[in-house]
This record gives sequence, C-alpha cells and structure tokens, in this order.
Amino acid sequence: MKKKNDEKIIFFCNGKKCGKYNKDPKDYLKNKIIEFGLEDKVCVSKMDCQGMCKKAPVVCIQPKDVWKKEVSVKKAKKIFEKHIL
Ligand code: FES
Repeated sequence: MKKKNDEKIIFFCNGKKCGKYNKDPKDYLKNKIIEFGLEDKVCVSKMDCQGMCKKAPVVCIQPKDVWKKEVSVKKAKKIFEKHIL
C-alpha cells in the first residue's frame, strides 16, 4: 500500500540577497500548491541567510533535505514536479 505523503516544507532563504530574487519562484510554487489542492500537505516558509548568497535564491525542501540554488521559475517548476507532487 502506498504510504501517504508526509508534510513537506519548502524553505525559501529570505536573506538580503535571496530576498531580492525569490519572489517569482515563490509565487509560482504557492500558486501550484493551491492549484493542486496541496495546502494541507505542503507549506512555504522562510529561512535566514544560508551563507550561499552568490547562488541566490536558495531553496531547501524538507524532509527530503534537498537544496537548490539559483532557483528561477523554471527550476521551481522542476522542484514541484520532482519533489512536491
Ligand atoms: S541571502 Fe540567501 S544565502 Fe545569503
């Protein structure tokens, strides 16, 4: 029997640098979560600067502990398909 998906959290770095670039991918993922009715299973949260500012914006998906750098809307789409659905 397939195990139910555990709750997932998408952390967006909200440090000075990432905060400048994360709006579009964040909006994209929030909209997808609503579109697919995953509000109870997935939440989007913030985290402090992770010291990888050159790779802004930085995203972390838990509990899989997947880290993604330079997350554009295109990358956010891949994240959604691979790690959220
Ligand atoms: S601001 Fe995101 S890693 Fe520093």
